[in-house]
Amino acid sequence: MFSQEELKKRVGTYAADYVEQGMTIGLGTGSTVYWLIQELSQRVQQGLQIQIVPTSRQTQTLANEAGITIVDLNDTNGLMLTIDGADEVDNELNLIKGGGGALLQEKIVAAASKELIIIADGSKCVKKLGAFPLPIEVIPFGWKQVQQKIIGLGCAEVVLRERNGQTFVSDHGHYILDCHFNVIEKPLSLNTSLHDIPGVVETGLFINMADIVIVGTEDGKIELKHA
Ligand code: 5RP
Repeated sequence: MFSQEELKKRVGTYAADYVEQGMTIGLGTGSTVYWLIQELSQRVQQGLQIQIVPTSRQTQTLANEAGITIVDLNDTNGLMLTIDGADEVDNELNLIKGGGGALLQEKIVAAASKELIIIADGSKCVKKLGAFPLPIEVIPFGWKQVQQKIIGLGCAEVVLRERNGQTFVSDHGHYILDCHFNVIEKPLSLNTSLHDIPGVVETGLFINMADIVIVGTEDGKIELKHA
C-alpha cells in the first residue's frame, strides 16, 4: 500500500514524460502538480528547455523557485498541453476542480490547450461527481444572492470559503462558494444553470475537457484513462 503523497509523487513524476523539448505548457495547481514541478526542475537543470504558463500565483512562485521559464498566456499562440490536478474525476473524465481556489485561471489555461492531462491519486476517481463540494467562483458584490440561487438549484449547503478565519479571496479578487451537491446527476446542465446566475464567474466543473487522466492506484501502479 502506498500513501496518498507517494501516489501524488508517482503520477506527478510520470507526467513529466509528456513534456517535450521546446514546449510551452500550462502548469496546474496543487499538491500533485508540486511533484511535477520538482521533476521538471531537475530535467530543466539537465537541459530540457520549456516555458510554462502558470494557473495560479502559487504555481508561478514554485516554478520561479524551480528555475522554470514563465510566459504570459497572451504571448503564446495557445498551448500544446496543460497538466493539472483534480479533486474528483468521473468515468467520462468530467472533473471537479478548484479545491485550491485556482479554478478560473485553470479553466482559461486548459481551454487554451490542445490537450489536457490530469494527474490524480486513485481516491479522486468517483462514479458520480459531487461528494467533493463544488467550488464556484463569484463576484464579492451580492454573493448571498448567488448563494440563494445555487440553493434553489438543489444544493444542500453553500459555504463561503474561508482561510485562517478570513474570507478566502482568489488570485483574481473573487470569493469561492463551496457547494455541497452530494451527487451531481447531470454535470453539463448544472454547469449551464450555474453560469446563468449573474455573479457567477466560473465553476469548478470541467466537462469534456480532460483528454487523459493519469491515476496512481493504491498498489502503486499507474493507470491511464483516455477520453
Ligand atoms: C486547484 C485544483 C487542484 O488541481 C485540485 O484541488 C487538486 O489538488 P491536489 O493535487 O492538491 O489534490 O483544482 O484549484
